Amino acid sequence: MRSLIFRCFLICVGIISIQSCDGERKTKKYRIGFSQCGDADKWRKAMLNEMNRELSFNPELELIYKQADDNSQKQVKQVKELLSENIDLLIISPNEAEPLTPIVEEVFKKGIPVIVVDRKIASSLYTNYIGADNYQIGKMAGGYVASLLNKKGNIIEVTGLPASSPAIERERGFQDGISPFPDLKIIRKLNGAWMKPNANQAVAAINEQLLHTDLIFAHNDVMAFGSYEAAKNAGNSKLKIIGVDALPGAGMEFISDKILTASLLYPTGGVESIRNAVKILSDQPIAKQTILQTLVVDSTNVQMMKLQSEKIASQQNDIELQAGMIIEQKRIYNNQRTFVYILAFSLGLALCLGGLLFYSRRLNKMINKKLAHQNEEISRNSEKLIEMSARAEAAHEAKLNFFTNISHEFRTPLTLITGPAEEMLKQPKLLPSVRQQFSLIHKNAMRLLRLVNQLIDFRKIEFNKMKVRVTETDLVTFTNDVVLVFHDIAAKRNIDCRLLTRERLLPVWMDVSIMDQILFNLLSNAFKFTADNGSILVSIEKNNDTNQAIIKVEDTGIGMTEEEQKHAFELFYQGEHDNHKGSGLGLALTKELVTLHHGNISVTSKKGKGTVFTISIPLGKNHFSNDAIIEQEAPVHLHENENNFLFPDLLASNIVNADQQEDITIKESTILIIEDNPELREFLKMQLATHYEIVEAGNGITGLQMAFDNLPDLILCDIMLPGKDGITLTNQLKADIRTAHIPVILLTAKASAEQQVEGMKSKADAYITKPFHFSYLDNTITSLLANRHKLKEYFSSGIPVEIRTPGYKHSERIFVSSFKAIVENNIANDSFAMDDICKQMNISKVQLYRKVKSLLNSNINEYILSARLQKAKYYLRHEELSIAEVAYKTGFSSPAYFSTVFKTKLGVSPTVFKEKPLDTKERE
Ligand code: FRU
Repeated sequence: MRSLIFRCFLICVGIISIQSCDGERKTKKYRIGFSQCGDADKWRKAMLNEMNRELSFNPELELIYKQADDNSQKQVKQVKELLSENIDLLIISPNEAEPLTPIVEEVFKKGIPVIVVDRKIASSLYTNYIGADNYQIGKMAGGYVASLLNKKGNIIEVTGLPASSPAIERERGFQDGISPFPDLKIIRKLNGAWMKPNANQAVAAINEQLLHTDLIFAHNDVMAFGSYEAAKNAGNSKLKIIGVDALPGAGMEFISDKILTASLLYPTGGVESIRNAVKILSDQPIAKQTILQTLVVDSTNVQMMKLQSEKIASQQNDIELQAGMIIEQKRIYNNQRTFVYILAFSLGLALCLGGLLFYSRRLNKMINKKLAHQNEEISRNSEKLIEMSARAEAAHEAKLNFFTNISHEFRTPLTLITGPAEEMLKQPKLLPSVRQQFSLIHKNAMRLLRLVNQLIDFRKIEFNKMKVRVTETDLVTFTNDVVLVFHDIAAKRNIDCRLLTRERLLPVWMDVSIMDQILFNLLSNAFKFTADNGSILVSIEKNNDTNQAIIKVEDTGIGMTEEEQKHAFELFYQGEHDNHKGSGLGLALTKELVTLHHGNISVTSKKGKGTVFTISIPLGKNHFSNDAIIEQEAPVHLHENENNFLFPDLLASNIVNADQQEDITIKESTILIIEDNPELREFLKMQLATHYEIVEAGNGITGLQMAFDNLPDLILCDIMLPGKDGITLTNQLKADIRTAHIPVILLTAKASAEQQVEGMKSKADAYITKPFHFSYLDNTITSLLANRHKLKEYFSSGIPVEIRTPGYKHSERIFVSSFKAIVENNIANDSFAMDDICKQMNISKVQLYRKVKSLLNSNINEYILSARLQKAKYYLRHEELSIAEVAYKTGFSSPAYFSTVFKTKLGVSPTVFKEKPLDTKERE
């Protein structure tokens, strides 16, 4: 609206200014061409000045001026030029009559009015002639000379250009003027051609004759002056000179200065030329001849004439000034008129706008009222919506909480399904059909557990409770290990499952547990949707431009539609497959897990052709917060039991391995089981009773009491207990001198890393999450009891602990000694981890893990930690080192961490151990 008004305003101003310019253009209505024969002398200049002055009163006239330097041919040419410039009227003062006549006639015949001024042409084809009567001038000069010389004397006549009309007429008039007086004789006629130098030369040439001359009559004042200068030195003091023109400031001055005796006034006709032109152009009647007045100017009237002409000049000046002022006034008037127009228009516009404003304000008010009404309604509705969505959110939340709680609850019963199933699968003499049934039970219970865990993980991410703990890990080895897990199933189904990469090594900062889950989910998915004989290719590459690791999982499965791809990562989206309905959890969780690594996952697929999942993970560790970065692999082994849980297909072989493990259990040990779930308690009791004495308690308070009463060799304790929770109970046990040495294994469904750390802080010796494999629990119990036993041995005998290696084959011995040597060499290296051993021994993590487990009956981290502690004890006892030095020399990242681990593992702080090694030994 505003811009529209502004545009209107501009248009109007434009129109007004165009009108005023147009007005100016319209005032120049006529073009007058003025052809002057020459303008070297004052008389011609005076003519032009008069014209211009007069023109200032006639703004409608435009004058085009040309002068021909007293050259007739040039003047003809210039008239032609004026013709081509479309003049409306021609003013001409022809140089010579005959040469200019044809062109003037031509102009006249074209209907262009012609004013001839001063000199004539040899024709009557012109509109108007302006000039004094030159014959009369000549005659008056003759009469004057007669009276001046008393009718007797010798005269020299200096004529103008012989072919010009004033010269002819003045000569004729002069002759007639003196003819009544026979004693007046023209003794010489000289051609001065109207110019001073010509006259001067001609007179100078007859020097002798001047002595006998009484008077020189020159046809104009400039020739008279030229004659005077030539005759001055001739010695004739009585010589009189008269001229023609009597121009103020020229001829008149000569008379005043007694150079000339007299001059005949010859007006230029400049003013009359313009006045007559105006008349002609405005079709006013005009006489053919405009004859200007003349008179003799001599010493008797020169002063008066001068005064008059000065007066005229001053009046003329005033007129000019006034004319200038009129023009200025006119300009001001025009400006003011334009301003008034604009003002009037603006006023009109303002009035219109005012009206419009008034109208729009009214309209606005009405609209505002309506809007306020609608607003109220909208806010009422949105409040309702907020309330409804809050209720829906709460309901959704409650539902998810219910699922999460239920999922937690599922873990214990699922443990009770997988546990006995595993135990049954261990039986070597099982009928194949029965083994198959148990395997089915185990597999499906595992699948159920996976779903439950995925749901719990998802909730953890949702509530920001899933913490990432990243270590620098070689992605190639890591991925290869995961791919290897699928080799059995791939072989069974003839699926070409391979890892392709050009990278020999690609260190990536990642949470290995989470990355396990990501790759496992994608590979499980690929296996689920790929038919037998297909292919599943995993590729790894490094994108140097984006500094990312790119992992692709590409299958030749059933593929996805565009729609399915769009929603692939949405929670609970199940796609359109009839036979492969998923939970809608796996990919959504995978995406969240990738996001925890600041990475990205995308999918491309073709229905019936296959699917490619692409993960990009940033390299480096700057994108992780400091507390997420674990520079040294933590000795607390969090994922070991999850490996079997994640890869159920590996279970069978693990179970067989468990069977083959050497039994190093300390017989007749007593285990206290504190577990509130009677079924799980019963199951544990059943499984452990074959090797251990079992005492049991259903709650924390009874459990603590029984610990004091029985002083068992090991306590297996649930965290969530009625009466007293497992962590408080452990703290109390470890704080009491009677029970501080008893190893405690905390057992719980709470799987988060923080809870595990919390468990370890309470000085528990191990932390096992449900669901767990009984074999893992069994191994942990065995290992804890054995360590305790070895510790006893060590402190009692002082012989360094060696992990037993009896009955090894040669290759196994080489493996064990290399492994030990690598660990030994890296004791002081705090960033030393499993990856380093894999690299040096050129084997995968899974291979290393299995080998160490089977040959040394230890997990790797546990072994490295034992080695570090062993060395630490040696330093503490034999070298003069501070606790901090020992900590750094044995590869602990800080003395505090060293002390915690030392005390947790050995039940005594390093300081106490250092100061009283013997006492400690005795106590142990
Ligand atoms: C100027 C002039 C005047 C003279 C007139 C005759 O050029 O020589 O002095 O009176 O021309 O045409």
